[in-house]
Amino acid sequence: MLEIIEKHIRSIEQTALSSAEEVETFRIQYLGKKGILTALFADFKTVPNDQKKLVGQALNALKTNVEEALSRFQVKSNTRKSAPQEDYSRPGYAAIPGAHHPISLVRNEIVSILERMGFAVAQGPEMEDDWHNFSALNFPPEHPARDMQDTFFLAKDPDWALRTHTSSVQVRMMETKKPPIRIIAPGRVFRNEAISSRSHCVFHQVEGLYIDKNVSFADLKQTLLEFARAFFGEKTEIRLRPSYFPFTEPSAEMDIWWGLENEVDHRMTKGTGWLEIMGCGMVDPAVLESCGIDPSVYSGYAFGMGIERIAMQRFQIPDIRAFYENDLRFLSNFTGAL
Ligand code: PHE
Repeated sequence: MLEIIEKHIRSIEQTALSSAEEVETFRIQYLGKKGILTALFADFKTVPNDQKKLVGQALNALKTNVEEALSRFQVKSNTRKSAPQEDYSRPGYAAIPGAHHPISLVRNEIVSILERMGFAVAQGPEMEDDWHNFSALNFPPEHPARDMQDTFFLAKDPDWALRTHTSSVQVRMMETKKPPIRIIAPGRVFRNEAISSRSHCVFHQVEGLYIDKNVSFADLKQTLLEFARAFFGEKTEIRLRPSYFPFTEPSAEMDIWWGLENEVDHRMTKGTGWLEIMGCGMVDPAVLESCGIDPSVYSGYAFGMGIERIAMQRFQIPDIRAFYENDLRFLSNFTGAL
């Protein structure tokens, strides 16, 4: 009997169960009512007493082996069942590439050009107090120039507002840094304006500020020409039109020559061929003074450009609202751009 048991143990060690049917057959073969183990246990009664211990141990070992063989297969078949039944011959899904937002693309390019020219990036808060957004920039209270920019005031405290321009960062820089100061401040600004295809209540600007001894209007003009040629192309022409901002004197608006080749050009330039890109000027001595910089020693220039306007021109986007609708049909045009 001992030999028979050992033969079974060896044969189980070599059995590989690979299907549910085989397992069931194996189970019935050993554990069924008429199975091998059942029969062996029945025969056990006939084993002489002096061999009972040995045979008993062997019999138990066989039983354990049978159970182990079954549970081994169970584990295998469970993992199989839970694994997805993939068809590896199917074609894969194409990964959908993400894209930078067109505003980010244009901002990054503007920033990198100005960084190469020696400007460092500065930041300021989007919620500003009256001082940084207006008063320090030479907008006295009740000054009509405040109406140039319709402001979102904070309901609880009208001394606070969402900044209407990035010029507030000029003030923060002049207050905390000693000249020479050469910074740019890209950021989001807010104006309480009617939304149309050309204006929105949220948009983006890049501010520039340079304060040092002997900074002149010629420096401003040359810097802007360099910038325009780096961004719009080597042959780009610029023109400066006299303008007014409370914080610069003299003030100007800069246009680039865009051309009048087709209908889009006519529309974008209002039929003039010139595209308005930014406001600029020499920092008003009164502003230097309110920020603690001696205007008899230092002078400087500032400029501020709207990113949306430039992005609309670059990508021929006719409606500013497209930037904020997050329509994938629009955004996916910019995959791989720049
Ligand atoms: N802050 C001005 C604006 O909104 C632009 C500007 C910046 C003008 C710096 C002059 C100097 O529109």
